[in-house]
Amino acid sequence: MAVIADRCSEIQVTVVDLNAERIAAWNDPDLSKLPVYEPGLDAVLGRCRGRNLHFSTAVDAAIASADMVFLSVNTPTKTKGLGAGQASDLRWIEASARQVAACARGHTIVVEKSTLPVRTAAVIQQILDSEKGGKSFSVLSNPEFLAEGTAITDLENPDRVLIGGEDPEAIEALAGIYGHWVAPEQILRTNLWSSELSKLTANAFLAQRISSINSIAAFCEATGADVREVAKAIGMDSRIGPKFLQAGPGFGGSCFQKDILNLVYLCRHYGLEEVAAYWEQVVALNTWQQHRIARLVVTKLFGTVTGKRLAVLGFAFKANTNDTRESPAIRICRDLLEEGAQLAIVDPKVPAAQIAKDLGQAPSAQASDGGGGGGAQGGWQLARSAVEAAAGADAVLLLTEWAEFGELDWEGVAAVMRKPAWLFDARATADGSAARAAGLNVWVQGQG
Ligand code: UGA
Repeated sequence: MAVIADRCSEIQVTVVDLNAERIAAWNDPDLSKLPVYEPGLDAVLGRCRGRNLHFSTAVDAAIASADMVFLSVNTPTKTKGLGAGQASDLRWIEASARQVAACARGHTIVVEKSTLPVRTAAVIQQILDSEKGGKSFSVLSNPEFLAEGTAITDLENPDRVLIGGEDPEAIEALAGIYGHWVAPEQILRTNLWSSELSKLTANAFLAQRISSINSIAAFCEATGADVREVAKAIGMDSRIGPKFLQAGPGFGGSCFQKDILNLVYLCRHYGLEEVAAYWEQVVALNTWQQHRIARLVVTKLFGTVTGKRLAVLGFAFKANTNDTRESPAIRICRDLLEEGAQLAIVDPKVPAAQIAKDLGQAPSAQASDGGGGGGAQGGWQLARSAVEAAAGADAVLLLTEWAEFGELDWEGVAAVMRKPAWLFDARATADGSAARAAGLNVWVQGQG
């Protein structure tokens, strides 16, 4: 919405939410305190907030005066009831559709921006149509393809914009907005169901590439091949292409797992068991990859990490975001805590409160200096720098590819560690030869 406001100065955009605290944060005059860390977002807000971009809790009034309403609420995986663990929870979509139905005036275009199961538009249309009194609605599907950390540039230069719908006038109204900065041939128009399914399929294909390369990474380690060389060699085949072939600790983020599980659920619903099982394996491989990394850390450290201090570099699910949803660091750290490790975690953007929530335990009061004296109970603490985290540690685990971890002075890090000391580079982004030269044992993803 910020980028739409930035590119279309004649359109008034109002972002509404029931959460007053969140809206207040978006209105904070200090742009460094926005609730979401996203490179370039502060500059966009600096240009249009208060001009044609507004943040408000007056939901009903904003709906009443709007020509177009974007439904952008979350659709997490259901945790209980029918489809628990796989189906998307649509309660917020339904609640907002009902609110739009009640408050809208005249004709309103309702755009699904949230990622939704196929045929949700029909549900939304039914809810909207149940409202009488001179109101009418057109429902469009307009899935979002931006990735976190590069959201602003992805929005400013999208590979494509996808609009699904039945009402040509509504489709052209939305296409006209994107037409301010997106070339006409990049604006695709499809039917509603193709649009909804394209979003799930794009994420399933992207995640599948990561599970594929991670499976080969494990095989490379077993055979002496190097996954980066393999990725380069296959990526030069123009049919495969070089992107999204970076082996790592498994994909995280709020979308890939949720969307694939949703796809799996829908396939089963339609009786396509083999198709469901095929996609389910992408998630299974991802979970295995995360456990695999925790297991090999334990194995290399003489079969036990109980009471040992381990430095964890990075907790966000990828670099350049403060988002930790489904971050591979969560499962890896939980496994190591289970083994009794003392973790010193450092991340440039993730606060301690978030880590505590994700790990299900508060930070320990006293920093353990390693040495096996910390008892059987695993614990964690936040560190301010990699060197502080590494002090007294037996191993450094690189889990998020923040640029600063690629530039570490390994002499300085190795000097404060307990020997024999290890670097486990799950992202293959550290300077492995410098770490080796500083006397560390080094394990690199897909290289062994
Ligand atoms: C993903 C998609 O890339 C977006 O197109 C989509 O719009 C978005 O989900 C969504 O549905 O909202 P995002 O999850 O923000 O975007 O970030 P990605 O760059 O896709 O990374 C996802 C995970 O895969 C991260 O944990 C990342 O570290 C990992 N990854 C990515 C790899 O391990 N290797 C790669 O080569 C690429």
